[in-house]
Amino acid sequence: MSPAQTAGHRAERPDDQPVLQVEDLTVAFPTEDGVVRAVRGMSYSVAPREVLGIVGESGSGKSVSSMAVMGLLPRSAQITGKILFRGEDVLRMSGRQQRGLRGRRVSMIFQDPMTAMNPVYTVGDQLAEAVRSHSAVPPRAAMQRAREMLDLVGIPQAEARLRAYPHEFSGGMRQRAMIAMAIINDPDVIIADEPTTALDVTVQAQVLDTLMSVKEAVGAAIVFITHDLGVIAQVADRTLVMYAGKPVEIGATAEVFREPLMPYTAGLLGSTPSAEGTRAGERLRPISGSPPSLISLPRGCPFGPRCPLVRDDCRASEPQLTRGGPAAPAGAGLPVVSADHLGACHHSDELLAADDPTRFFRAESEVTP
Ligand SMILES: Nc1ncnc2c1ncn2[C@@H]1O[C@H](COP(=O)(O)OP(=O)(O)OP(=O)(O)O)[C@@H](O)[C@H]1O
Ligand SMILES: [Mg+2]
Repeated sequence: MSPAQTAGHRAERPDDQPVLQVEDLTVAFPTEDGVVRAVRGMSYSVAPREVLGIVGESGSGKSVSSMAVMGLLPRSAQITGKILFRGEDVLRMSGRQQRGLRGRRVSMIFQDPMTAMNPVYTVGDQLAEAVRSHSAVPPRAAMQRAREMLDLVGIPQAEARLRAYPHEFSGGMRQRAMIAMAIINDPDVIIADEPTTALDVTVQAQVLDTLMSVKEAVGAAIVFITHDLGVIAQVADRTLVMYAGKPVEIGATAEVFREPLMPYTAGLLGSTPSAEGTRAGERLRPISGSPPSLISLPRGCPFGPRCPLVRDDCRASEPQLTRGGPAAPAGAGLPVVSADHLGACHHSDELLAADDPTRFFRAESEVTP
């Protein structure tokens, strides 16, 4: 969409315009061993109040792509593409403009809150400072706002907790305080990078609930990064699957889980206990092998060496994101795939034709005829 179209669209229907658009983002890191191609062409958009889940194995580029959106990558990073907040390109902004955006229009929640909090200041001081760094609010009003935010994220005795230091909080409470910090300036987008991975299961569920309820309260969209499809199933409206620095599938979460277009997604579904795609009584099976080096990718599909459906054409060219299967109404007996469900595989139709797409990842002996 051209900037003119974007602007016109915004004037007509302000709530429909994506709050964040990432267009053909690439990130490379020159290193002594060669160039690490961490992100190799990533595009997505996030609508107001939408939750986009990003899932993929360790090293697939989830964090690097979101650090690019936040403008937090090291100087050595070579970045191309566009990152638009309500139509404005972050990569063309000055450092000062970027800082004005960060923590205000877009904020981030990390896996380990201790990396984002300063151990020598009280939680209240840090929250109040987050307010005052973006607007001229008197100290008492900023502290009042901090107290309201601790209330909102369900921290009991908020008044007293304002005077506590981060290390005096439990892991779950610290993560709630991080959520408070992330919403205190009413952002349009919150990027949550594995926000609950370090917590035990019960606390994880509580913190997820908190995040989802405050999202409604402040009206923010969320980009939710995780390696856990079970969590994605709970929170994400749409899901983007990353492999070797590229999105390999994107679509409405229910549809991605029901009719995966990319064997890697099917493999993830077959290896996740709580994912909807797992059939009752079925054995879980991790995908064998490991992702390729981002310094020297194999020719063709980067998932090819681990893929049970691999053929010669997969080794010849890397598949691009395309719509799989028939358009409306179903042809050839295959399920209908909606226009915004895309997968990067030369053989999506084989997955679509299977009753249980995870079966390709099971040994012959396990497959019931
Ligand atoms: N500063 C850097 N210099 C060189 N390579 C880097 C740098 N930062 C990240 N990388 C590489 O970029 C790739 C993508 O890393 P990223 O942290 O985005 O993965 P991830 O999907 O977030 O994984 P995880 O699930 O483990 O958090 C990895 O191969 C990583 O080693
Ligand atoms: Mg990461």
